[in-house]
Amino acid sequence: MARSQTKGLFCGKMKILAICGSSRRGNTEAMLKRILDGAKEAGAQIELVLLREKQILTCDGCFCCEKTKTCRLSDDMRLIYPKMFNADVIVLGSPNYFNNVSGLMKNFFDRFCPFWEETLKGKKAVLVVAGAEGGKSLKTTEKALKNFCEICSIRIVGKILIKAKEANEIQKNQKVMQKCFLLGKKIAAAE
Ligand SMILES: Cc1cc2nc3c(=O)[nH]c(=O)nc-3n(C[C@H](O)[C@H](O)[C@H](O)COP(=O)(O)O)c2cc1C
Repeated sequence: MARSQTKGLFCGKMKILAICGSSRRGNTEAMLKRILDGAKEAGAQIELVLLREKQILTCDGCFCCEKTKTCRLSDDMRLIYPKMFNADVIVLGSPNYFNNVSGLMKNFFDRFCPFWEETLKGKKAVLVVAGAEGGKSLKTTEKALKNFCEICSIRIVGKILIKAKEANEIQKNQKVMQKCFLLGKKIAAAE
């Protein structure tokens, strides 16, 4: 039985995990924190993982995982995998880097080779993107996040795509911060 199906039966609180793919303490992180604030207020168990603080090796394409169904690389992913498996909702946040996700986020995605088929199936995701240009270019990063969710059969239940360039820009935008907070509350309350 998937973890999300057990919510309420044995496990109680909704678990919401945010993954931040920014290289700095900037807009993406601020939005993720606010979403988690909202989720916490609605009673969820929350956690934020800052990929830039983790040691995550690049997938070396060995394909050992096809047989072993796990990754042979030994690094911080060993701690992050269980967090992903246990989460009901995964909030994926990335800045737009060259109309894509950041390298940190892509590197993280590539490490799900052993787990894309079954393990994340049925989970929910929220997508968060910050980009200097805004407009259509934000969609390119959103698409890269969506690709991961589609491949892993994760259902997208919300998104926030925001134009911002300087590291402390979005924190000053009360409207966006409130939108993030309310989205956090909403996902924590949803079944
Ligand atoms: C390496 C790099 C590449 C970037 N490429 C783009 C881009 O293609 N389009 C864009 O709109 N902004 C681009 N930006 C700007 C960031 O998306 C923007 O500063 C954003 O606010 C960063 O989010 P953060 O504060 O969460 O780190 C780039 C920034 C960096 C450092």
